[in-house]
Amino acid sequence: MDFKRQLEDKTQTVNKWLEQLAPRGSGIYSEIFDAANYSVNAGGKRIRPVLSLAVCELLGGSEQAVMPFACALEYIHTYSLIHDDLPCMDNDELRRGMPTCHVKHGEAMALLAGDALLTYAFEIISHAKVDGEVIAEAVRIISHSCGANGMIGGQVIDIKGTKSYEEQVELARMKTGALISAAAEIGVLASGNRDDNLKSAIMSYAQNLGIAFQIKDDLLDVEGIEAVIGKKTGHDAETGKRTFVTYLGIDGAREKLQDYTAHAVASIDVFGEKGFFLRNMAEYLLSRTK
Ligand code: IPE
Ligand code: IPE
Ligand code: MG
Ligand code: MG
Ligand code: MG
Repeated sequence: MDFKRQLEDKTQTVNKWLEQLAPRGSGIYSEIFDAANYSVNAGGKRIRPVLSLAVCELLGGSEQAVMPFACALEYIHTYSLIHDDLPCMDNDELRRGMPTCHVKHGEAMALLAGDALLTYAFEIISHAKVDGEVIAEAVRIISHSCGANGMIGGQVIDIKGTKSYEEQVELARMKTGALISAAAEIGVLASGNRDDNLKSAIMSYAQNLGIAFQIKDDLLDVEGIEAVIGKKTGHDAETGKRTFVTYLGIDGAREKLQDYTAHAVASIDVFGEKGFFLRNMAEYLLSRTK
């Protein structure tokens, strides 16, 4: 099967699980579910849960073991986007090709939808049908990666602004890399494979991929097409945000994107032919238009 078909298959698997696990409830507070599911279902590439699934399968694990963790991470990612778009943060009105959560549901409801998705992620993890020790480890990985020493810390650096290229790399490592690394790590965890060398290879792949992913995100803000990426372009420059493009220029950023992608791909040499999907995924993310 070619890479595109494999990617479509895995994305469909993720969407099926997201649908099954979607937060639900009724009552006079039910608008919270509309707001949360509005953002989850607006679309999105699902690259984090796809990565978790691919890693788990590569290491001999099952879809059933990894998908609750992978979905939890996608809910956390969606919460981070809802909050990232708020007027007090990036103040964006378009996300995943739709009006942002606060434009559609109001600021208070968007804030609460983010809170609800973050909390719900841990509820799902607690229900996973795996050993209690695996659940505890998943909580450790995910809470650390989305907390103040991970994604939130990165958002703080982003809001305060960077002063050097090195700080920009640190920002990307935290705000974007942390969740992408966590996606890979829960894939390893759920597979049950305890080979440390294979885990190091996967983690090095994910760390490089995470930085590459943010470089590409910064490039797309400059050269992407709004109708394709589903969010407003030119917003970083307009709001005076320093990005990889500020420090490196477009050509320099493209070069670094190539470097980080090449490092990611080289990291998984050990898998040989079996690394086909992850290798192609890195190349696909490099050339993505959305
Ligand atoms: C956007 O992430 C935010 C960043 C961390 C750069 P994605 O590009 O994965 O967004 P969706 O999930 O596809 O909407
Ligand atoms: C967001 O980074 C990263 C998050 C932790 C949500 P950006 O602010 O660059 O993401 P976009 O460009 O709005 O998707
Ligand atoms: Mg932001
Ligand atoms: Mg933003
Ligand atoms: Mg961006």
